[in-house]
Amino acid sequence: MTLKLGLIGHPIGHSLSPWIHAKFIDLAGLTGEYKLYEGDHTKLPEVIQNLKQSGVDGFNITVPYKQVIVDYLDNLDRDAEILGAVNTVVNENGKWKGYSTDGEGYVRSLMDPYPDLLNNGTSVLLLGAGGAARGIYRAIVQKGVKNIDIANRSLDKAEALLPLRTGSAKSKVMSFQEAEQYLHEYDLIIQTTSVGMKPNVEDQIIQLDNIRQNAVVSDIVYQPITTKLLQNAKEHGALIHHGHAMLLYQAQLAFEKWTGKHLDIAHMVDELEEKLRGE
Ligand code: ATR
Repeated sequence: MTLKLGLIGHPIGHSLSPWIHAKFIDLAGLTGEYKLYEGDHTKLPEVIQNLKQSGVDGFNITVPYKQVIVDYLDNLDRDAEILGAVNTVVNENGKWKGYSTDGEGYVRSLMDPYPDLLNNGTSVLLLGAGGAARGIYRAIVQKGVKNIDIANRSLDKAEALLPLRTGSAKSKVMSFQEAEQYLHEYDLIIQTTSVGMKPNVEDQIIQLDNIRQNAVVSDIVYQPITTKLLQNAKEHGALIHHGHAMLLYQAQLAFEKWTGKHLDIAHMVDELEEKLRGE
């Protein structure tokens, strides 16, 4: 089986996906290609047309096309429909179906080092309410945690996440000041904004003085690998979870949807870290 895969987005010149999927193709014992389709909005219909004609097996789609791609699809997975965003398209017998693998990929990346962290006694604090937060919120809620509260700069954007909830997890919305004040109540704190990303490496979204020992602090920012927030979490005796693992696990899930193969990729977390440090 020779796989035809790729990525559509803009800009994607520095994407790590070709590196990740080339390794996955090898690991799976397959042959294939993962091409970059870089294009601005005017080129999108043309790129899509070419992909349709080439009989692509599937592709990833990233910023700024995660919403607009929906217009070109035949079917949508329920989570992608509810989230209103797609990052993975699968050619299912000639029909294109859209999925969102970010949230579940994030949860897999977290459960790799912390397999027992998410259960019906877990209190979670989500920092941020953008596109990344939406997928993570829905995936965490589906794990059946006790509660997942959302702190964001604009409270109305945080409120907009609440309808994504399923099951019995409780949720409330708060400011960053309130989050700092009640921080000791949480087992897991997930940072989903761009705060702390290179070049603004000295920025930290909230102070961690009230954190509980052995709480886990997770930051989806992966440039730098260890953000100021994660460094500070370690200094307070908390456990940490790095953002680059999410990249790998959302790709693992996409690869599964394209090929039906579940790959053991735990060893690649350190390889990716090395690659990122080398850049
Ligand atoms: P993404 O799709 O990567 O999640 P996004 O949809 O633009 O990006 O969301 C960005 C998130 O980061 C939002 O929660 C945003 O807060 P607002 O909803 O108040 O805009 C948050 N964010 C970005 N820059 C921030 C900053 N300097 N301080 C606090 N929050 C910030």
